[in-house]
Parts: sequence; C-alpha cells; structure tokens
Amino acid sequence: MRTPLVAANWKMNKTQAEAREYCRRFRELVPRDFPVELVLFPPFTALAAVREELSGTAIRWGAQNVHPEPKGAFTGEVSLPMLLEHGVSYVIVGHSERRHIFGESDEFIARKTKAVLGAGLSPILCVGERLEERKAGKARKVVEEQLSAALGHLTPEEASRVVIAYEPVWAIGTGVPAHPEDAQEMANFIRGWLKERFGNVAEGIRIQYGGSVKPANAGDFLRLPDIDGALVGGASLDPDSFFSIAKEAVP
Ligand code: 13P
Repeated sequence: MRTPLVAANWKMNKTQAEAREYCRRFRELVPRDFPVELVLFPPFTALAAVREELSGTAIRWGAQNVHPEPKGAFTGEVSLPMLLEHGVSYVIVGHSERRHIFGESDEFIARKTKAVLGAGLSPILCVGERLEERKAGKARKVVEEQLSAALGHLTPEEASRVVIAYEPVWAIGTGVPAHPEDAQEMANFIRGWLKERFGNVAEGIRIQYGGSVKPANAGDFLRLPDIDGALVGGASLDPDSFFSIAKEAVP
C-alpha cells in the first residue's frame, strides 16, 4: 500500500563531476520498473548536474536543506523558488546535523516544513533522540515533541505529503544501527501519533529508518511492518552499495 522510499543523503560530499559519474552508474543499475521510489540528495552545487543526468528516469532528487523565506537578506541560504528551478521533489528538514551542529530549533524546522509543503513539495522530516535521552527512557517523549512541533499544525492533506525519517542521533555515522525491534517500536509509535492527529491519512504516510544502514543490515529494517524505506548516509555514496540497499526494499 505504501511505496517504499529509499533515499541517499550525500551530506557534504561530491563535486559536480563526481555526482555525474555516480548518476551515470546508478542509472545503469536501476531497472525502469523498479518498484521502490529512489531519491538522491546531492549538495546544492550538484543539483543541476544530477537533474541533467537523471531527467527522463524514474529516479528523483531533492535538497538537503532550505530556508523558509522565499528571498531576502539571508547570506548563505537557499530558498524554495531556487530549488523549484532545479526540479526537486523532496526537501530534508530537521536532520540531526542541522539540529545539533547548526542549532536549528523546532520552531524553525516547523516553518521550513510548512514552506516546503506550500511550494507543493514533500518534506522528509527527520526526528530522533540522542543517546542520553534513550538511556533516560525519554526517546518517545523527544520524538513526540519533534513531531508535534513540526507537524501539529498541518492539515491531513498536508500531512499526507510528509515523509518521516526516524534517525536516532547515536546511530548516525557511527556504524552502530538501532536494534530493528527498537526501530519498529518507534516507527509504530510515530504511526500511532499520526493516526491520532490525522486519522486514516496516517496509514499512507511513509516512515523511514536512518542511521548506519548498510547493504548487510538494510533488510533487517526494510522488512519491518511500520518501516517503509531508509534514509542512507555513508553507504549511499557508492552507487552499487546504495542500489544493494534499495533492492532490500522491494516488496
Ligand atoms: P549514516 O547512514 O552515514 O549513518 O547517516 C544517516 C543519515 O544521517 C542520513 O540522513
């Protein structure tokens, strides 16, 4: 019922030339009728190159970040009208690196979420607890607060276009993924929260797992009932490795 969505978050990696090389290989690997939605998130500077290489394929691309205002004196930022020109379908909002390295607040992430939806695009909202929060038994509370801040004021129609990525902070880039049972438990909690807020729409909302997903462990997550895809960092930087992960999502 929910089409799996497997996404490559390249973070601050790849020049335009490297992005082109990646896309050419990736295009060869992915069959036309591949039953999993695939999205690449290059850095802003490689969006044009990725668009050129992937136009006419079923593979989509998106942006890793956005500023909620359409234009203005925000040095170093990129707006939705600028991204729309690059043909993006998705925008990542609330990634833990934005929250914790760049100090983005729940309120700012909520503005971004609303702006992305207003532009007709889909946000991938990242949520997840830190290790000390999990150890203190506060994982659900933290995730609930993040969901409530970013999505609480949306209409069911808006919510239906959101994708949620559960990425426990301690699993990102560490080589130590969550236990699949814990990931399923949190994804189920998230779906329950969505159901309470938005009713039946919740059944169609995709929830990804992210954090040290590799070809060898991807199947453990992608088979779980409430997990509909993966948001992959390090292991997405090689097209063959990323495609091996994507194949684990085939229903
Ligand atoms: P890693 O797959 O490198 O742990 O990164 C996960 C992530 O942050 C994806 O957004």
